[in-house]
Amino acid sequence: MSGRFITLEGGEGAGKSSNMEWLAEQLRAAGKTVLLTREPGGTPLAESIREVLLAPSDEAMADDTELLLVFAARAQHLAEKIRPALARGEWVLCDRFVDATWAYQGAGRGLDQTSIAALEQLVVADSQPDMTILFDISVEQGMARAGKRAALDRIEQEDKAFFERIRDCYLQRADQQPARFRVLDASLSLDQVRAQLEPVIEEMLSWP
Ligand SMILES: Nc1ncnc2c1ncn2[C@@H]1O[C@H](COP(=O)(O)OP(=O)(O)O)[C@@H](O)[C@H]1O
Ligand SMILES: [Mg+2]
Repeated sequence: MSGRFITLEGGEGAGKSSNMEWLAEQLRAAGKTVLLTREPGGTPLAESIREVLLAPSDEAMADDTELLLVFAARAQHLAEKIRPALARGEWVLCDRFVDATWAYQGAGRGLDQTSIAALEQLVVADSQPDMTILFDISVEQGMARAGKRAALDRIEQEDKAFFERIRDCYLQRADQQPARFRVLDASLSLDQVRAQLEPVIEEMLSWP
């Protein structure tokens, strides 16, 4: 028995969190057992690593440290939560996964792609998502939506060009892997975003 692994990707304020529970409800209504989770994090230990990753600090975090922490959290998350749920036949919805590492650490920080690919092979191996839903929105609009939040974390403090590289990377990956990605225009109203999600859900539910 094997479940399905769906990831939600996109920049800050794109609407991932706003749509994840709704998406889960649609799948539950169709009889699926759904597990909601997020990265970095998803287990107590991985959430502790998330705190280290996101906490603003006087000591600059080395790029490789950031990359290894992201993958350390992911290894724990896969071992403790994602793979066991899939083995039980559940549907796992995850707010960000390895595409976010390519976007944030790869395109955003400019980290060496060979290192990311090696860690992806080691940690993710064949646990790739069955489908990835990309919530695409301009950096300005996403920031305006997310900007209502109180304090910026270590990554949210980056400049606009950093987030432009992230958006471009996501769109490029979606172009290169059309079988896995579904791209939504996340600039529209919540109702209009959900209208775009409906055929995507139908497609998932038609999987054998
Ligand atoms: N389609 C939408 N139209 C208008 N506001 C939205 C829309 N989707 C989300 N929001 C609002 O934008 C903010 C960021 O949304 P959120 O779902 O937290 O984004 P993400 O999880 O991708 O960072 C929230 O205040 C949310 O209510
Ligand atoms: Mg969110």
